[in-house]
Amino acid sequence: SPSASASASASSRAPVILTQDELKKMAAYKAVEFVQSGMVLGLGTGSTAKHAVDRIAELLKQGKLKNIVGIPTSNMTRDQAVSLGIPLSDLDTHPIVDLAIDGADEVDPEMNLVKGRGGSLLREKMVEAASKKFIVIVDESKLVKHIGGSGLAMPVEIVPFCWKFTLKRLEMLFMEAGCVGKLRLFKDSDKPFITDNGNYIIDLYFKKDMGDLKAASDAILRLAGVVEHGMFLDMATTLIVAGEFGVTLKNK
Ligand code: 5RP
Repeated sequence: SPSASASASASSRAPVILTQDELKKMAAYKAVEFVQSGMVLGLGTGSTAKHAVDRIAELLKQGKLKNIVGIPTSNMTRDQAVSLGIPLSDLDTHPIVDLAIDGADEVDPEMNLVKGRGGSLLREKMVEAASKKFIVIVDESKLVKHIGGSGLAMPVEIVPFCWKFTLKRLEMLFMEAGCVGKLRLFKDSDKPFITDNGNYIIDLYFKKDMGDLKAASDAILRLAGVVEHGMFLDMATTLIVAGEFGVTLKNK
């Protein structure tokens, strides 16, 4: 079975400076070592997960993996998998997923995650919550002490109806943490970003820690108009991190 840690380069050689994308690829390839023939696989979304999907397709073509069924977490990943010939299904047909592999925007020491800066948090959460195992693959830049405390976005998917009202309600929930919400727009456009589910995304920015994560999650989900948020608490079962000094693996 795959080893718990792998070195990026032989120790006798001079250290190689790897790009962030090469680190993402290393983490993804390590995760794919855990894929076995016959599995139902959750296929993640983003530039890290993309490498995992490429690798799975490569192993299928080489005949090293057989009878894989993929459940994509976005239209983008679905299109990638279709173009590579990976057989696909959905949660209606396969409600139990053996293994999901996906990236993350932030990971704390307890393996709580922020996801969804790529906009696919709802389908990612549905597929990963249905997975017996969920391997998170990141380069080391994603490691944080507290999720949501990095000054970067914590995404919340909401229905478009009266979105300004929902944005205000979200900000009010976290007034003490200096929370500011922004409607996500399509890149270089003034048009709202639309998720694969036809919804909007509000990105929440915190000046201070949002406090107890479970309480914050519950409070957000209680708001009518909210569909899902990007905090993935206690869901990851394995974390694979790629850094300049190799790949490390941590199990929950
Ligand atoms: C998409 C996600 C991605 O997994 C997350 O944004 C990480 O992306 P990348 O691998 O490109 O850094 O949650 O909704």
